[in-house]
Order: sequence, then structure tokens, then C-alpha cells
Amino acid sequence: MNILLLGSGGREHALAWKIAQSEKVDRLFIAPGNAGTAGCGENVDIKADDFETLKEFAVANSIGMVVVGPEDPLVKGIYDDFKNDPRTSSIPVIGPSKAGAVLEGSKDFAKGFMQRHGIPTAKYRTFTGETLEEGLAFLETLKAPYVLKADGLCAGKGVLILPTLDEARKELKEMLAGMFGNASARVVIEEYLSGIECSVFVLTDGRNYKILPEAKDYKRIGEHDTGLNTGGMGSVSPVPFATPEWMSKVENRIIRPTVDGLAEEGIDYKGFIFFGLINVDGDPLVIEYNCRMGDPETESVMLRLKSDIVDLFEGVADGSLDKKTIEFDERAAVCVMLVSGGYPQKYEKGYVIGGLDKVKDSVLFHAGTQLKDGNVVTSGGRVIAVCSYGQNRDEALAKSFEGARLVNFKDKYFRRDIGQDL
Ligand code: AMP
Ligand code: GLY
Repeated sequence: MNILLLGSGGREHALAWKIAQSEKVDRLFIAPGNAGTAGCGENVDIKADDFETLKEFAVANSIGMVVVGPEDPLVKGIYDDFKNDPRTSSIPVIGPSKAGAVLEGSKDFAKGFMQRHGIPTAKYRTFTGETLEEGLAFLETLKAPYVLKADGLCAGKGVLILPTLDEARKELKEMLAGMFGNASARVVIEEYLSGIECSVFVLTDGRNYKILPEAKDYKRIGEHDTGLNTGGMGSVSPVPFATPEWMSKVENRIIRPTVDGLAEEGIDYKGFIFFGLINVDGDPLVIEYNCRMGDPETESVMLRLKSDIVDLFEGVADGSLDKKTIEFDERAAVCVMLVSGGYPQKYEKGYVIGGLDKVKDSVLFHAGTQLKDGNVVTSGGRVIAVCSYGQNRDEALAKSFEGARLVNFKDKYFRRDIGQDL
């Protein structure tokens, strides 16, 4: 089978690496891909949300399956677009329908969904410009810190956590006045939850599901979780507090009700569900849903997935996921992200990356790289994910930190405390 994978980050390189290991694959295309994915298949210069060109390419290249990495094409409805076009209706798209992607595309929808299905999450209310006064009054009933969330997609920037009531009032007004454009026309205000976060992933065919290895990611730029939020500075899997008992609470209280709830509401969902969870006194609560895999969690999770991912995708596509088995590698896997100096604010691109061939004990996934005049050069904030196995987390981390030292480019930065808090 020929597979078309969409996206261009570290997550997609990790997916491409895993897909390319399947014996079921003849040709793997990645649109648009990066310098790393070019080593797993063939990059094609089409944007992940240019549906018309993607469909023409899929037909011309006998694509048997489309795998969607990022949320953007899903929220824009790529699943429905392929399905409703007679030329591509028989090509399965691994990723939810537009209606399913709303779990990520609208925080208000996600909160309402959880409420309808009794799924544990922080208490909340949603406000608009018309109900600003009620929103301000609601804030008075909560304790600090205050959590404000823009309803729509804001490239990871739409959640504000404010230490004082005054700041929360000010930011609520600004959000509703268009701070994030239309995405903050509605704002979810919710109770602050205190605990450690954990990302849990499932693949579902809309009825059955398989739980993938869990992971923890590190979002802040600075060590000990300080400074600005980033796309993710590293990840580890497994997560020590995700014991079998805890995971069975996650499955019974969160995963099963979510998959059943989607089916009950008639929402077509064949793809990944990412549960952003928080562990509060031993109980898991949902912080957010995403309709895709996490980045940089995927980089660790793909290392730990032993089963043929294309076989699992086939189960997703034809509704036979219950007939498939999923096996994990018992070893620990970690990812340390090398980023451009200045990220997540202003940074330079185009620096030559050296030392890639010196790394022997890690798998390198490219996040923001490009091939230029025969060199691999930096082309984004997050540049290279240095991923390693170990008999335990510390052993895996030692390998990744060594790899992080060997790969070099001007103004390279990485967090040296990944995995140290667990
Ligand atoms: P989200 O985009 O919903 O994942 O929110 C981004 C980050 O904000 C999360 O990863 C959490 O670290 C934090 N966060 C979101 N909601 C809450 C909450 N109710 N309580 C505490 N932290 C939160
Ligand atoms: N690592 C968090 C995310 O992908 O949204």
C-alpha cells in the first residue's frame, strides 16, 4: 500500500519512521515533510491543508491511506473532504471527521461533551461579549489562580493562568474584545487544578480503541518549568504515576465514556484521541482533548510501540481494531528537544547542523530542519528531537543528553532537567 502522511514536524518524522518499518508499505509520501522525513520516504511539496492538491496527488499516486499529523487539516475537515469526493471516497483518512475534531477545535464543546457524558474535568462556565458581566461575577466565586481559555484554536497560546483576580478580570475583557480574534469570542473560565499532567493516547475506529503508551511532556522553555510556553521541550514514557490502577481509572472514567459518547452523538471518529490529563490526589481529570497525537510525546511513544502501526491503522479504517493486538516495548523512551536560541520568541533560521552522524545511541527526529545546498540547516524553533531507549528513564536520558551534546548548531539550547521531576 502507498501511504500519504501529512505534516512537517518531529511528530511526523516519528510517525514516518514507524510507518516505514511496516511490511505493508510500498511507498510512503510525506507532505510537506522535512529533512528527516526524507530519509523515511518521499517528501512532496504540498501543504497539509491544500485539500484539492492532496486529493489529486492521492489519486495520481494510488494512495491507499492518508495519515494526518497536525490538527489544522482535521479541524478544517480533511476527513469529510476526502470522503465526500467520489475520486477519494474509498481512501481512508486516519483522523476524525470535522465534527470529531471539534473536541480540540472548541474548548466549550469539549467541556459540554464531558459534562454530558460524566467525564471528570474542572468545573467551568463559558462567556461571550454579551455575558461579560456574568463572567466577571463568576470569577469572584473562584479561588486564585484563574484559568481562562479561548474557545478556538490559538496555536497553543489560548490558555491564560492568572495569579490575581484583577489580572483575570482584565484579561477576560481583552479576550472577549478579540485578543485572539474570533477564537476568543467565547471564553471558558474554569477551576484551577493542581497536580502532575500526563498525556494518554488512544487509536479508535469509532467503537473499539487501543491505548498507546502514555507520556509526559515538558512545555516551558526554562528548567524547572519556568518561562514561556513552547511547543514542547521533551517527553518521557512511561510515566511512573500511570500505574495499572491509575490507567484503569483513566480507561473506565475517561476513555470508554469518550469513545461511547462520540458514537452516541453520531460523531464519526476514526483516529487518535489525545487525552491531556492531570492527576489530582490519585484521580485523573481531563484538562483537554486533542484530535491528533502530541508533539513531542509521539517521539517517545513511537519508540515504545512494538506493533505494526499500519496494521493498527487498517483496523481503524475498517472497524476491526478489536481484532488487533498492541504490544509495547518494556524499555523507557525519552526525547530531549534541541531548539534555536531565542525560541519561543525571536530566533534565526538557516544555521548548518553538524554532528548528526556522530550520534549512535539515539534516534534523531527532525522537527524544524531543511536541506539546503547539501547541508541540513535549522528551519524552525524546535530543531531536532534526540530520542533514546534505556532500561530505565535515567539510562535513556543519559543517552539523549549525550546526543544533545554531539549535535551542534549556532545558539543551540535544550533543557537539561527533562524527566528529573518524576
Ligand atoms: P490546554 O491548552 O487546555 O492544554 O491548556 C494548556 C496548559 O494550561 C495545560 O497543559 C495545563 O498545564 C494548563 N491548564 C489548563 N487548564 C488547567 C486547569 N484547569 N488547571 C490547571 N492548569 C490548567
Ligand atoms: N505536547 C502537547 C501537544 O502536542 O499539544
